[in-house]
Amino acid sequence: MSKKGNGDTATIIDNRTGEKHDFPILTGSAGPDVIDVRKLYAQTGLFTYDPGFKSTASCDSTITFIDGEKGILRHRGYAIEELAEKSNFLEVCYLLLYGDLPNSEQMNEFDGYITYHTLLHEQMYNFFKGFRRDSHPMAIMCGAAGALSAFYHDSTDINDPRCCEVATHRLIAKMPTIASVSYKYSVGQPFVYPRNDLSYSENFLHMMFSTPCEENGVNPVLARAMDRLLILHADHEQNASTSSVRLASSSDANPFACIAAGIASLWGPAHGGANEAVLNMLLEIGTKDRIPEFIKRAKDRNDPFRLMGFGHRVYKNYDPRAKVLKESCDEVLDELGVKNDPLLGLAMELERIALKDDYFIEKKLFPNVDFYSGIIYRAMGIPVSMFTVMFAMARTAGWVAQWKEMIADPTTTIGRPRQLYKGEVQRTYTPIGKR
Ligand code: CMC
Repeated sequence: MSKKGNGDTATIIDNRTGEKHDFPILTGSAGPDVIDVRKLYAQTGLFTYDPGFKSTASCDSTITFIDGEKGILRHRGYAIEELAEKSNFLEVCYLLLYGDLPNSEQMNEFDGYITYHTLLHEQMYNFFKGFRRDSHPMAIMCGAAGALSAFYHDSTDINDPRCCEVATHRLIAKMPTIASVSYKYSVGQPFVYPRNDLSYSENFLHMMFSTPCEENGVNPVLARAMDRLLILHADHEQNASTSSVRLASSSDANPFACIAAGIASLWGPAHGGANEAVLNMLLEIGTKDRIPEFIKRAKDRNDPFRLMGFGHRVYKNYDPRAKVLKESCDEVLDELGVKNDPLLGLAMELERIALKDDYFIEKKLFPNVDFYSGIIYRAMGIPVSMFTVMFAMARTAGWVAQWKEMIADPTTTIGRPRQLYKGEVQRTYTPIGKR
């Protein structure tokens, strides 16, 4: 491979034939360069093979940068730690969507658009009532997000920029309403309508915890912690759910359907479902003396058990989001007067033991964003089954920003991976009676 820089090439030599093929090396503004293999098949008749996309960049993007070795996460160039400390979720949404931090006028206008769209079409409330009461809120959320395309026909035309703009506002605005309705329905309480005088996070807590008979009165420390959680989960480059949104969108599907695809992908325990799995794991471990037993199981290749909240495809260092969350955790527990939460004590001890263990050191397995988030959600009174819904609510910002970037890119084409076929080559059909 020749030296770094645009105009450089990488040569692939097919040792079977001795043929050499040059491919351009593309350089971004930060992060590893990429070999542009778009013409590989045409030139060589070969495909690349990369299940799980461990070495594949699927797109250009200017939204989020991660350096997994150094534990860096930046949105549009701003460090996540700084955004979590100084910004708020709606401002981060604006940044992700439009590329720069807004001035006051832009912020007020954006805030107004989001506030304007928080209500759901009244008919949608009947739609929720069709689910079983004991449905998982993520199941409801998947269905409800997809159903938005049935209720908002006027923002499904992806060739109309105004339609797309309204769809992004609607998605960000309505997710907290959908999330809280999913919860209220599961506990048999009446749905609570949004309040436009509250901030994004305050409004969500209001819809979760107020009832038509009693306003809950939002605690500002908890609202701030919620906002920080939303910021920390807002976007994370080309992860499984974002790639699902992009792949769904590559066929020109409408934005609501694409976000539903993202929600479905997020649900799994290897991705957004990990926050729920972490809390269930901590409850299962129960006491500190049982930690070694679970560490042993996590290291056993014949046991499918993994330490949930540990490890990351990209971070091979401490997840910067987990650092911020650990601090938030203390703040929330202090505010709620929870002294020495046994679950937090257990989590910290588990982290301490795992980080000293050779297995976790060698494989560079550090706590990720989901390790501490569940402890905060639980202290706030958010039920475990809602944890992944919280993640989906926050990640909607990233999904719509990535979707917006993708549909504006003239080089976008339908995503269509190929395969290494290993099945039967050709067989002749035998009638059923002769098999
Ligand atoms: N506990 C025990 N061993 C682990 C763990 C874990 N949490 N994570 C990875 N390993 C081992 C794994 O068994 C494998 O070992 P070997 O090389 O001997 O086969 C090695 O580490 C590499 O693992 P991998 O599965 O090939 O790595 P990956 O990059 O494909 O997976 C991951 C990343 C996040 C899916 C994985 O670390 C995991 O399952 N973690 C637990 C679930 C979790 O916390 N997910 C939340 C991710 S952060 C939130 C988000 O962005 O969604």
